[in-house]
Amino acid sequence: MNKDFEPQIIAFCCKYCAYAAADLAGSMRLNYPSNIKIIQVPCTGRVDIIHLLRAIEDGADGVYVAGCMEGDCHFVCGNIKTRKKVEYVKKTLAELGIEPERVEMFNLSSAMGPRFAEIANQMGERIRNLGPSPLNIKQAA
Ligand code: FES
Repeated sequence: MNKDFEPQIIAFCCKYCAYAAADLAGSMRLNYPSNIKIIQVPCTGRVDIIHLLRAIEDGADGVYVAGCMEGDCHFVCGNIKTRKKVEYVKKTLAELGIEPERVEMFNLSSAMGPRFAEIANQMGERIRNLGPSPLNIKQAA
């Protein structure tokens, strides 16, 4: 593990749950990595396969989607559809020789500030252990 490696991580967060939970985590002064770039989406259902792949292609070392609890999506099943998209992207990355663990899906509610921080720390640690994306290593060479 390279201790100097600061992973770039993109988090697509539903405004009804994960984004609000991120706000709560901030209000509670909970620590989570500052190198996680949060992108607010109206529902995780708006996150498409191309967004996840493009984030990796454009230099992210890890990407995750955080949506409402299953059954609580304000657009009925956006989070369930996107879980399938995430699984598809994982398979695609594996076929390309890129660790599928670089992409993940989480569910949480707006009241789960501590869970938001826990997820962010968990992903930060996971990606740090994986090291830089193979695409970033090739670009740097
Ligand atoms: Fe939150 Fe759909 S409204 S995941």
